[in-house]
Amino acid sequence: MNEPIFTNWNAEHTAKWGKAPLSIKHRLHRHELFSFDALADLIERYPREQYALVHMGAQKERRLWREGDIGGMAGHAVIDAIRNGRMWLNLRNVGSVDRRYRDVLDAIFEEVRQNVPGYDTYARTSGILISSPLAQVYYHMDLPGQSLWQVHGRKRVFLYPDRAPFLTPEQLERIALFEVEVDIPYEPWYDEHASVFEIGGGEMLHWPLNAPHRVENLDCLNVSMTTEYWTEAIRRRQMINMANGILRHKIGLDPKSVATSGPGFWAKAALQAGVRRAGLLQKDRRARRPIEFRLDQQHPGQVIDIPQSSA
Ligand SMILES: [Fe+2]
Repeated sequence: MNEPIFTNWNAEHTAKWGKAPLSIKHRLHRHELFSFDALADLIERYPREQYALVHMGAQKERRLWREGDIGGMAGHAVIDAIRNGRMWLNLRNVGSVDRRYRDVLDAIFEEVRQNVPGYDTYARTSGILISSPLAQVYYHMDLPGQSLWQVHGRKRVFLYPDRAPFLTPEQLERIALFEVEVDIPYEPWYDEHASVFEIGGGEMLHWPLNAPHRVENLDCLNVSMTTEYWTEAIRRRQMINMANGILRHKIGLDPKSVATSGPGFWAKAALQAGVRRAGLLQKDRRARRPIEFRLDQQHPGQVIDIPQSSA
């Protein structure tokens, strides 16, 4: 790939990268891999275990979350169903399914490294998210570094400060230990403290590590790409979250330090590694959700319930 993917990177972006929310322009929305034909083709050959199709509640309504199956429908029909429904399709880890998307991801982070000296990333993954008009992603935070790339449609993204009460060490520890991101407290007044970006095709967002965020689609079909990555600094933060979580939840202490160097850090690094190796963490991994519906071929946007066995 010869042309840069970022199209307006400047010194301000370099200074803010990872330290403040920022929006940079890109050209993926005009890339052939992100055309609707290419996406339809990708959907048709996507492995079942690598995608999630989720049907969700209206904006501000948190209860409904059901997983479904595309039911062997053609790619363009799946996209039409999403355009007419209230759901999202997450094509996870697209680089492992199609090498060409992996190459795009690698090119992106090579450009980041050229613009932000020393910003070396690894274990990078990307996913493509196709979501309905007015769909939403609830308030949450993530452990790896993250960016959001808007490809088609428009959405409003709320980015919150990476400090209490929006984000607490205890929340990060719980996510690290138990891999649960649900039930993170959110209050409408948080929005007064959010940086709000409305982004369209050709705009991406990056924010400080762990910063909470939520997303509201405008009234149009949305296609976005999410990228996740690790750096040595992020890996150390994760080890601290894990170790402090063990001290708090398993041993009943109240750890205060989040230092990522020095003797305290190395003791915690050894602690969390030992506990993990010994298999002492009862991972409350999100149970694999049942597949409760499939798309309705006759009525784009509607779904057909799959009867659940009572076993
Ligand atoms: Fe996220």
